[in-house]
Amino acid sequence: MKIPENHALVIFGASGDLTKRKLIPAVYDLKKQGYLPEGFYILGVSRSKISDEEFRTKMTDSIKEFANGDADYEDIKRFSESLHYLAIDTSDENDYAKVKEKLLQLDIERGVSGNYIYYLSTPPSLYGVIPKSLAAHKLNDETGGWKRIIIEKPFGYDLDSAIELKHQIEPYFNEDQIYRIDHFLGKETVQNVMVSRFSNGIFEPLWNRNYIQHVEITSAESIGIENRGGYYDKSGALRDMVQNHLLQLTGLIAMEAPASFDATAIRNEIHKVFKSLRAIKKEDVRKNVIRGQYTASHIKGESVSGYREENEVDENSKTETYVALKFFIDNWRWGGVPFYIRTGKRLPSRVTEAVIKFKPTPHPLFNMSDESKFGNQLVIRIQPDEGILLKFGMKTPGSGFNVQNVNMNFHYSDLSDAYIPAAYERLIHDCMIGDSTLYARGDAVEEAWKFVDPILKAWEDDPSIKVYGYPAGTWGPNIADDLIEGENLTWRYPCKNLSNDGIYCEL
Ligand code: BG6
Repeated sequence: MKIPENHALVIFGASGDLTKRKLIPAVYDLKKQGYLPEGFYILGVSRSKISDEEFRTKMTDSIKEFANGDADYEDIKRFSESLHYLAIDTSDENDYAKVKEKLLQLDIERGVSGNYIYYLSTPPSLYGVIPKSLAAHKLNDETGGWKRIIIEKPFGYDLDSAIELKHQIEPYFNEDQIYRIDHFLGKETVQNVMVSRFSNGIFEPLWNRNYIQHVEITSAESIGIENRGGYYDKSGALRDMVQNHLLQLTGLIAMEAPASFDATAIRNEIHKVFKSLRAIKKEDVRKNVIRGQYTASHIKGESVSGYREENEVDENSKTETYVALKFFIDNWRWGGVPFYIRTGKRLPSRVTEAVIKFKPTPHPLFNMSDESKFGNQLVIRIQPDEGILLKFGMKTPGSGFNVQNVNMNFHYSDLSDAYIPAAYERLIHDCMIGDSTLYARGDAVEEAWKFVDPILKAWEDDPSIKVYGYPAGTWGPNIADDLIEGENLTWRYPCKNLSNDGIYCEL
């Protein structure tokens, strides 16, 4: 990590939850690590009429609660002096004159010369308005310093709206200036997928259709939708998790080695994977995509509401809180290998991992245990208990030649002295230094929508496609097990603990 040039971070939506929980704590962590330039400052912009002092007090509290490393009172106080606030009507273009004036004043005070990052942490309805309004006051003009814009998901609601949004932003900011944030790409363990694949000689030769039976990605959450009913009911698991985070992860697992380690080369490879995704035809959606919704239940003796009873959720809602799908990547490396993605709220455990399931040996020489019969698995654990697990067969000690599966584990926590930056910390820093490698590129986002769109359309057009209920605290609809090809094969049912797997372990 290096220290960026002097600049300002302008956060639109500064009174929102994301600013409080993620953005300000992440920037404070950068400060603590020594990765902020001398005159750096933040200008929070939002509708709420609060003073600089009130903003600082709120943000100080949130740093204490959410910062990654230890928060030191004096240190936070010093940092908070770089926080400023401006109340405007963000939907009114004229009000951006105030933003300009404030930035010019702060630039002089802090010795910054027109380098700005604009962070859009607002409702998506403003994603078109803000760039246009900034441009109306020449705040996109790079003659006096660079200008970058970070856009939070959702980047569009479907393919058409994503394209429309692109057209709204493009006249004012070019692709090099746009940073579409996908916080999954900021996770150390997600980046490590690339490093594990391309820094080791042993994985790559096996990483293809000849040796891999299938690839499985699970992102389970034990929480429900919390207070986000209004947003979630219009989104659902497919838009919220699959279109972005889980397809990006698929991209890293499936990509070819880039020609070099730079943003263009890496993002070209991810784009190629997305272009090779085989669209799921409308008539196959019923069979290849299972959607579910959690229903009221008891978890560890406590009663838990069903999705339709949550705040701001329609009582007849068909929005999916769970989705599992089977799909293919039609290219030379992956032809014929099924990929499975599964994600849901109110599942038994919070765990995200990818499983590379290798083909079994061609001929069983030994007496194999049930598990070892199915072949080796490489489990890449994204969170929690971050690490890598390899499952392979070993001789059970004693007479005969019986085979049992054993685990070889690596836990990130064993690297006790390594500081693991939070995802937002890493990504914001990357934008500060102008590195877009871990940001989603426009063409890839569009391809991801092209893949997801027919599924959304099929659900919309055909109400007979079921939304399966599943009791909160269970692994989703049982029918999702049928997606997995192969006799007796099912999903891996992971626990919070990397190698302590098994269907009942976290219930
Ligand atoms: C967000 C989704 O993008 O990712 C949330 O909107 C989800 O619904 C979250 O809970 C999961 O992120 P993480 O980092 O907690 O796995």
